[in-house]
Amino acid sequence: MNDFQKKFIGKIALAPMEDVSEPPFRLICKRLGADIVYTEFISAEGLIRDAVKARNKLFFYEEERPLSIQIFGGRDEALIEAAQISESVNPDFIDINCGCWVKDVALRGAGAGLLKDLPKMKQIAENVVKNVKLPVTLKTRLGWDKDSIVIIDVAKMLEEIGIQALTVHCRLRSQGNKGDADWSWVKRIKDAGVKMPVILNGNIKSPEDVKFVFENYECDAVMIGQAAITNPWIFNQSKYFLKNGALPDEPSIEEKVDVCIEHLRLAVELKGEKLGVREFRKHYSGYLRNIKDVNKLRLELMGFDTFEPIKEKLEKFKEEQLALI
Ligand SMILES: Cc1cc2nc3c(=O)[nH]c(=O)nc-3n(C[C@H](O)[C@H](O)[C@H](O)COP(=O)(O)O)c2cc1C
Repeated sequence: MNDFQKKFIGKIALAPMEDVSEPPFRLICKRLGADIVYTEFISAEGLIRDAVKARNKLFFYEEERPLSIQIFGGRDEALIEAAQISESVNPDFIDINCGCWVKDVALRGAGAGLLKDLPKMKQIAENVVKNVKLPVTLKTRLGWDKDSIVIIDVAKMLEEIGIQALTVHCRLRSQGNKGDADWSWVKRIKDAGVKMPVILNGNIKSPEDVKFVFENYECDAVMIGQAAITNPWIFNQSKYFLKNGALPDEPSIEEKVDVCIEHLRLAVELKGEKLGVREFRKHYSGYLRNIKDVNKLRLELMGFDTFEPIKEKLEKFKEEQLALI
């Protein structure tokens, strides 16, 4: 492995997630132990059209590094140009999405659609590798459906053309983002002689899962998606568990509330108050998880459109809880 590839070993990454893995959430996860973060996928066609929505997604905080910009599309000319645009904002590496399952992407020959056309996947990946200086990685799934699992051939093919690391979402396109993931494929890829780092992803729900896959499937790194939304502390908790074989204490209510407010503040600063507050609603459940009797509070928070009343409400709640201890 080269120096870039060695940086993946033993690491825990935050998954790219559309409308979730935005700069504020990534920064919070980074501060809570995520070693590598990825932007949500960015449309190559949008980037080259100079669409504001796509361009805005290129923003990241320096503190997030190492960070990858993830791009998707079905035309190699568009992917090359999008990779060059991405390179101009100087991320640490570029990731190509070949795993998105949603119809609008996969049935148009992008994302997981490329699992049905491996020559095209190869052409896209090879051309992006040749036309940027930054390392290029790729994220994909086991295959389109259970009758077409192609991941071992895909891994060999991508390694040959210079892809630097492969993230395997250990589900099929037909599964979406739900249901069992078959982690054993990562070991099978390694057993087939693939040398580049393989990052295992899919259905990692706890620090115990992280330890289990590191110990059993020869993955170089682990990537966590949905479990980080419900528990952004999972990264440091997993590191603690790997080191000590026991779980750390649950974060205090004070810490949960403080991180929630900080996350919201970053979201409002980045997106403006209205959008920042509205889009934040998906995060309350995660921050208030495992705290008794919070349903009423959560519903109240959902009803606010501005930052200050939410902050006041959360701080009052924190004080009340501290008084109970
Ligand atoms: C809301 C949501 C958005 C996602 N968006 C992306 C994306 O932009 N790029 C990508 O490669 N995968 C995306 N994914 C897939 C995740 O990166 C990850 O592969 C998947 O959720 C499996 O990991 P998990 O079981 O830990 O969540 C998304 C998943 C979710 C739930």
